[in-house]
Amino acid sequence: MLVTVPPQVWVRDPEILTRAMAVGKGMGFSRFLVQATGATQKAVLVAAGFHEVDRLHVLFRRSSLPLPEVPASARIARLQRASSLHIDEVIRVDNACFEPFWAMNQLALAEAVAATPRSRFRVVTVGDSDELAGYAIFGLGGGEGYLQRIAVDPRWQGRGFATRLIVDGLRWTKRWRTRRVGVNTQQRNEKALKLYLKLDFELQAEGISIFEPSSP
Ligand SMILES: CC(C)(COP(=O)(O)OP(=O)(O)OC[C@H]1O[C@@H](n2cnc3c(N)ncnc32)[C@H](O)[C@@H]1OP(=O)(O)O)[C@@H](O)C(=O)NCCC(=O)NCCS
Repeated sequence: MLVTVPPQVWVRDPEILTRAMAVGKGMGFSRFLVQATGATQKAVLVAAGFHEVDRLHVLFRRSSLPLPEVPASARIARLQRASSLHIDEVIRVDNACFEPFWAMNQLALAEAVAATPRSRFRVVTVGDSDELAGYAIFGLGGGEGYLQRIAVDPRWQGRGFATRLIVDGLRWTKRWRTRRVGVNTQQRNEKALKLYLKLDFELQAEGISIFEPSSP
């Protein structure tokens, strides 16, 4: 469960996180994560008994930039709107791509789609049997676009499928006149970082740290 108490609240009163987690436990949740940016927020969490479990890069792409080229090799894939029929396969691809800490189940997937006021959930499929090769979820809110999630089955990586999914999402965010599109990625995910930089996302000086309570 992602604790969504705003930082401006818990920075002044970190005890509120303990209360929020108690509510979460009562609802049956067992793991709690808090996002922090900047030295002050991190220091408050450490003092409150949290420790850092991951670090994310933050990148933004200006929507005024032209759309990147999609490699010809990606044309073998069919891009389509995700439907309920794709969900099991999306979870399979997601779990093949992400370590257990970040892998999604059906609930997490539904939360990712619902995280922003508008979203675009697309899949790429290949072959006569429409094998699911990858998917992307973009979101829109507050005049900005977000690449919430993207994964391409390891068997189909390196063919431009992610580029195709991202260009589709960027085109959609342009239509909604966003100023920019953001994405977060684990600092050790060099493949994703390289791809985003190639597609003209700019790395921001300040990243995001993910904390969890040291004693549950
Ligand atoms: C990151 C990820 C989505 C990239 O997917 P992908 O489909 O392999 O990405 P693309 O093919 O569009 O681009 C990746 C590379 O393939 C290259 N490529 C594209 N078409 C190619 C082709 N025909 N031949 C050879 N290479 C090609 C791209 O140029 C790029 O190479 P580069 O690293 O040298 O720049 C995929 O590795 C993945 O699912 N990773 C695990 C999940 C993840 O990390 N998601 C992002 C979290 S923020």
